[in-house]
Amino acid sequence: MGGKYSSHTVSPLPVGKTIIITGGNTGIGYETAKNIAMMGGKVILAVRTEERGKSAISKIEAEYVERKKEGPYGIAQRDKLDIQYHVCDLTSLKSVMAFIKWFKDSGLVCNVLICNACTYSLQELFTEDNFEATYQVNYIAHFLLISHILPVICQSGDDCRIVIITSEVHKQAVFDADYASTSKMKKYGGFEAFANCKLFQIMLMYNLDKVLEKHPTVDVLTVDRGKLDALAFPNDPHSEEGFSCRICCLKCCGKLKHDSDGAETTIYAALDPHIKGLSRGYFLAPRDKPRWPSKEARNKELQEFLWKSTIENLNSYLDGDCLKLLSEHDK
Ligand SMILES: NC(=O)c1ccc[n+]([C@@H]2O[C@H](COP(=O)([O-])OP(=O)(O)OC[C@H]3O[C@@H](n4cnc5c(N)ncnc54)[C@H](OP(=O)(O)O)[C@@H]3O)[C@@H](O)[C@H]2O)c1
Repeated sequence: MGGKYSSHTVSPLPVGKTIIITGGNTGIGYETAKNIAMMGGKVILAVRTEERGKSAISKIEAEYVERKKEGPYGIAQRDKLDIQYHVCDLTSLKSVMAFIKWFKDSGLVCNVLICNACTYSLQELFTEDNFEATYQVNYIAHFLLISHILPVICQSGDDCRIVIITSEVHKQAVFDADYASTSKMKKYGGFEAFANCKLFQIMLMYNLDKVLEKHPTVDVLTVDRGKLDALAFPNDPHSEEGFSCRICCLKCCGKLKHDSDGAETTIYAALDPHIKGLSRGYFLAPRDKPRWPSKEARNKELQEFLWKSTIENLNSYLDGDCLKLLSEHDK
């Protein structure tokens, strides 16, 4: 971590601009959270455990002290950054609901929700909710989080965004209807599961865009941050041989970058005023035009199938304002 700093174009941010990011404690999420906090954003890290949240914040604060010594360019001048963490373990829908409750009770706004966290597993593992772990962490737990926070986002003022971090790996996915509807595959494959989830995330963007047709203040975007830092990946406790999400992403790629370069595209999608209103954009690089995701990702029938299956799977977790808003999808 550390080293390079982002050369973003949108600082300082207005006081109180609130950004939630899942998995902001390591990797690209860490660099994204750090840079947005240094730009003056109010950042909430939704992390797996207290220890991971605390440790990430201490590191970010220490980096801010050092960064300030380099001069004022590109960072907000504060005594202290506005950054906090809250536990949101995506392998547990109970934990996600507890995060949502905490957030709603806090009365905070949410200007940007960044769905960054991911996992990868060579073995088929199941969560306490009886979903396959990759499906739950990468897709359905984020769906739940978005669904409940969406009514708040719609009330959080102009230019709010949901940014979902996907990957070019989605282009190698063959839509698996069994996996989409039950999270179980006839024959599990770690890469197939991961690639399908990255595909589902783009389909989620299209589905949410339908929900948001009457809410022009909210854009939903997807980002692929390219191929990053192959040698510095952390071990994933769910996987064998330390095989992490990033290695999976690296399977289909060439260029290697530092995590802070990857963060640039997320920050661009999350905050750059020039792309306001470009909902349904799939971005591969900052200051680049939106690109086309795979044909399969744009298939309306498959999107519909995934949407219905997901709503069924989350049946007991969706109610009230959130369900009312989601029902806009079918109008
Ligand atoms: N790196 C690449 O080459 C690349 C390329 C294209 C797209 N992407 C995408 O970029 C995103 C970030 O990638 P990365 O390379 O930074 O990955 P990473 O280093 O493996 O970080 C993943 C993050 O997700 C968190 N996470 C995992 N399981 C979680 C759970 N159950 N609950 C909450 N948080 C959880 C991790 O937290 P812990 O620290 O607790 O494990 C970590 O903060 C991913 O969506 C990935 O698919 C990456």
